[in-house]
Amino acid sequence: MKKNKKYRLVLTPKEIKLLSLSPIKSNRYRINEKQLDLIGGLARLGKRKRFQELGKDTQNPRPIKDNDISWEEKKDGAFWKYEGYTSIRSLKQALDFCKADLSKWHVDRYIFNSWDVSTSDKLGNITTATNYQVKVWFLPKIDFKVKKPEFRHITVDSGKALQMWVIVGCVHRPYHDKVVWDKFLNFLEVNKQDITGIIVNGDYLDLRSLSSHEDWIPEGIDLGVEYSDGLQGIDEIERRLKSDVKKIYHYGNHEDRFFRDKKINRIYGSTIPSPHEGLELKKRGWEIMTDWKNGYTTLGRNLDVFHGVKTGMNAAKDQLHALPRRNHLFNHTHRFGTFSNKTNTSYNIGCMIDFDNEMFKYVDRGVRNAWSHGFAIAYIDTDLENHVYPIKINKNKNFFFKGVTY
Ligand SMILES: [Fe+2]
Repeated sequence: MKKNKKYRLVLTPKEIKLLSLSPIKSNRYRINEKQLDLIGGLARLGKRKRFQELGKDTQNPRPIKDNDISWEEKKDGAFWKYEGYTSIRSLKQALDFCKADLSKWHVDRYIFNSWDVSTSDKLGNITTATNYQVKVWFLPKIDFKVKKPEFRHITVDSGKALQMWVIVGCVHRPYHDKVVWDKFLNFLEVNKQDITGIIVNGDYLDLRSLSSHEDWIPEGIDLGVEYSDGLQGIDEIERRLKSDVKKIYHYGNHEDRFFRDKKINRIYGSTIPSPHEGLELKKRGWEIMTDWKNGYTTLGRNLDVFHGVKTGMNAAKDQLHALPRRNHLFNHTHRFGTFSNKTNTSYNIGCMIDFDNEMFKYVDRGVRNAWSHGFAIAYIDTDLENHVYPIKINKNKNFFFKGVTY
């Protein structure tokens, strides 16, 4: 402090109470030297500038410029700073006040400060105001999409020419029956010129590596191995079809294991390919249906193809009873069966799995004994009506179509 200058001392209400000061005028107190010494000691402990030279700040009663706002934006972050008299005491108030674009930025960290500043005029009248200082650092928002099943209804209804569709499901690769699969590929080759489209109808992959029911996984099997074997099968199909064939891939409950494994999704979701990513289906021109329970493809006017949710020996009947005005074509039960009402039919078209594989011993032998190999052919005529030929493969792994025995 300089000699022959007048200073005012800024005291907090707590200090006034502590020193038992009595006012001589509103906001002015008499203080003796001992008390001053004590306050000096207190002042040195605090960070505030306690002694302010009188006459200096009386020129400008507002110690800082109000509403001093700055917004600095860079590619890798943004910084917002406010100083003024507007009371901002929460992050929400700060974000409302600065109108940050939260679709573009998210808050990394923030600081709030407030302090009282007193000013005095020549008569010694003291005015006290609270200044607020807020700083918010932002980082760019990264778009993260959680992988989850999405409902789709695919329709195929062109009536310009007769269409021949092949539907195959419950292959359960890599635990499929290799003899049956090779015969199916041969069937595709022989009928190549007639085939309009193919639907792989769910449970094409077994995905034992993602099973939450079974702890045992065969040696050498992991998700990468299952995907690469599946990719080989997709290659085998594509090599036997014309390049302009329509290709549709439906998820089944086994592909859905990928979404059901919450732990995998939470920790590794964005780094692990989903089944259709693992099979490179998008870049190969396949349409993809990931909602195995609700999604379906309608061929022509009235044939709905989907993986299937009904179980047991009466699945075809139960499915038709549930939606009696539609025709249904599904897999899921690994059984073969049809059920009709007066106008519509429900087709349950079997599977392609290796019945003797250890993998399926979790199902009792009575149930496995009812499983059948099969697939289906659906013609859609120019009136958009459907004509379905379910192909049941017999115990010798043979089937018959258009005069050819496979
Ligand atoms: Fe299946």
